[in-house]
Amino acid sequence: MAQSMRALVKAESAAGITMREVPRPTAGPGEVLVKLEKTAICGTDLHIYQWDDWAQRTIKPPLVIGHEFVGHIVEIGAGVKGYQEGQRVSAEGHIVCGVCRNCRAGKPHLCPHTIGIGVHRDGGFAEYVVVPATNLWPIPDEIPSELAAFFDPFGNAAHCALQFDLVGEDVLITGAGPIGIIAAGIAKHVGARHIVISDINDYRLQLAADMGATRTINVKNERLLDVIDELDIDGFDIGMEMSGNAQAFNDMLKAMYHGGRVAMLGILPNGAGINWDDVIFKGLKMHGIYGRIMYETWYKMTQMLLTGFPLEKVLTHQIAIDDYETGFDLMAHGKCGKVVCDWTGDIKTAA
Ligand SMILES: NC(=O)c1ccc[n+]([C@@H]2O[C@H](COP(=O)([O-])OP(=O)(O)OC[C@H]3O[C@@H](n4cnc5c(N)ncnc54)[C@H](O)[C@@H]3O)[C@@H](O)[C@H]2O)c1
Ligand SMILES: [Zn+2]
Ligand SMILES: [Zn+2]
Repeated sequence: MAQSMRALVKAESAAGITMREVPRPTAGPGEVLVKLEKTAICGTDLHIYQWDDWAQRTIKPPLVIGHEFVGHIVEIGAGVKGYQEGQRVSAEGHIVCGVCRNCRAGKPHLCPHTIGIGVHRDGGFAEYVVVPATNLWPIPDEIPSELAAFFDPFGNAAHCALQFDLVGEDVLITGAGPIGIIAAGIAKHVGARHIVISDINDYRLQLAADMGATRTINVKNERLLDVIDELDIDGFDIGMEMSGNAQAFNDMLKAMYHGGRVAMLGILPNGAGINWDDVIFKGLKMHGIYGRIMYETWYKMTQMLLTGFPLEKVLTHQIAIDDYETGFDLMAHGKCGKVVCDWTGDIKTAA
């Protein structure tokens, strides 16, 4: 009989998630089997948990969710070179086709045929996950597993924040979710001047301040345009939209300096009522951001961590995997930065 394993499964087309015994997968050609140590909860997992419109359109149950993880290689499939059993790895969650124009041109982050681990195929909220060897990212010994578990959103933040030169620039980030908080830290790390971040959640704004934001704005109580006056600037040079909120995005466009550059990561509602005059007459440069650059973003994240980037400041909760409901609840209420679940038994207490 095939061996089984425990996994968090989206079992039915309804809200919720269940811990189940499922067959343990094996590594096919070009793949490895990873035994999980830690898995982090992403906003995407929360969408799947809550079964919102996007999840209903995208997810085909039954599916093992999760794409932010770290573990050890326990089985190596045929034809895999350069990895050993026991090695500690994370992995890029976007599996690309390898044969389209962009993949062949060395731009796989622009592959139009991307498949998502934990979205389109079984993921890392499990004791074991199968990953193509091409997607692995080895983790240096100096980096703790609880941080390596969430290289995925660290990578979203890094890809977005490093899109434009930030040195000496005035930066506005809308949305202090885990990604916005990390982006504020990266802006500080690379030498931006004012780093202003907005949200409607004071807990998360405090985390962003701890990470390096120089001014936080709770848009429920303060206006962005008043902060521009307070800072005595003409507007922001760089914008990073990380809230997915149309009002926040339009306020950002109003607050940009002429010739400013805007990187767009947050997933906005269709149309989002954009005031195109702000874009056209100010000559703004807009850039959509998807995923991470394979694998240059991974390289830069690793080196930033090894040279003192304080990623640990966004890690607010480590919980045992059996307390996963607590983790999803924290995420749903925004009373957290990153929440990392442990499979090893090392973490005993609930959050
Ligand atoms: N493009 C990509 O590849 C990619 C990858 C991952 C995540 N995302 C998207 O990026 C965004 C950030 O991700 P996250 O995991 O940090 O999400 P998150 O949902 O945890 O964070 C979004 C934050 O925006 C805040 N917010 C809500 N309304 C606001 C307003 N009016 N002004 C300012 N802030 C407001 C929320 O309180 C929350 O803290 C999300 O929209 C997510 O879906 C995109
Ligand atoms: Zn993620
Ligand atoms: Zn491709």
